[in-house]
Amino acid sequence: MARVTPWSLVLVVLCMTSWGSLVNGAAAAAGNNEGLGASFIFGDSLPDAGNNNYLQTLSKANIPPNGIDFKASGGQPTGRFTNGRTIGDIVGEELGVPDYAVPYLAPNSTGKANIIWLGLDIQIDYFNNTRQQLDKLLGPSKAKDYISKRSIFSITIGSNDFLNNYLLPLLSTGTRISENPDAFIDDMINHFRNQLTRLYQLDARKFVIGNVGPIGCIPYQKTINQLNENQCVDLANKLAVQYNRQLKNLLTELNGKLQGAIFIHANVYDLVMELITNYSKYGFTTASRACCGNGGQFAGIIPCGPTSSLCEDREKHVFWDPYHPSEAANLIIARQLVYGSTKYISPINLQQLRNL
Ligand SMILES: *[C@@H]1O[C@H](CO)[C@@H](O)[C@H](O)[C@H]1NC(C)=O
Ligand SMILES: *[C@@H]1O[C@H](CO)[C@@H](O)[C@H](O)[C@H]1NC(C)=O
Ligand SMILES: *[C@@H]1O[C@H](CO)[C@@H](O)[C@H](O)[C@H]1NC(C)=O
Repeated sequence: MARVTPWSLVLVVLCMTSWGSLVNGAAAAAGNNEGLGASFIFGDSLPDAGNNNYLQTLSKANIPPNGIDFKASGGQPTGRFTNGRTIGDIVGEELGVPDYAVPYLAPNSTGKANIIWLGLDIQIDYFNNTRQQLDKLLGPSKAKDYISKRSIFSITIGSNDFLNNYLLPLLSTGTRISENPDAFIDDMINHFRNQLTRLYQLDARKFVIGNVGPIGCIPYQKTINQLNENQCVDLANKLAVQYNRQLKNLLTELNGKLQGAIFIHANVYDLVMELITNYSKYGFTTASRACCGNGGQFAGIIPCGPTSSLCEDREKHVFWDPYHPSEAANLIIARQLVYGSTKYISPINLQQLRNL
């Protein structure tokens, strides 16, 4: 079988938020029944809480002005690809998680940091290690309870597979020609089925899976394709929609097949599309221009860094940088995921999931 992500630049996460740190949370779980649990976040850079600081990726957020509005760090960069809190941070707050996510690869956590590209397979290997440590810490039966009943697994992948691979202007022309989109997407879905099944085998039961957003509407794509303000790149959005349709079918399949598990579908595409289309309704003044970035008509070519131009009204931009939403946009997205209706989060929202 063809490899799914031949050279996807992986903007990594396996971050582990706890209701406390994992160890504290697990100890508390073992000691009482306060309903403490953990949130395991896997995937690409949207929810990244700083793992890319420890990896030699081409894309880094541990430089200012990233984090400029992040109160917990006093405005210092933390590796989050946004000006403030990530979607994962805000979801955690809304669900009553007192601490922000600790990046799994931080030197004082147990992950290894000498890997350059870290795909979801490897993130799951790391979780397998964590899983074995929990068995030792709590004993197999309590560890299983903790993971299956009190832990939420959020997984968002796909955007990087398209952006850094299939849609890359120069490098991927070869791939694009040799592999048609149907085969590329089938590979991605088949691979993802195996990965989710592995997590199930490791006792994960409460899953939240984000679909791919409207990647044709990010400032980077709009800039390199020289579009105007109200246009989006058609091919990119079509690929996302095609992948998302199959992803939804996959989740329906797994909800039927994997006993005792629930897979929640987070419709990031429609949610972000609504923000982009109707941005003024939400108090934004632009949904096309990056607040921090440089190049072209939407500051969409050069990633955000110390020499970037920086907008003054950060809460009025949907996009923080050429790729990632601002904290203001993250806030709207996160609240919909926690409290929203089945239009954006189904069959139940995250608040209901936590209380299951
Ligand atoms: C790990 O180190 C970071 C930075 O030194 C610190 O902020 C954090 O609290 C530490 N986390 C744990 C779980 O000890
Ligand atoms: C977890 O690791 C163990 C020991 O290395 C291995 O036998 C097992 O197959 C792994 N499980 C998964 C689901 O990857
Ligand atoms: C934008 O808002 C209008 C009016 O509320 C609504 O009909 C439309 O569906 C929205 N657009 C998107 C893409 O959600």
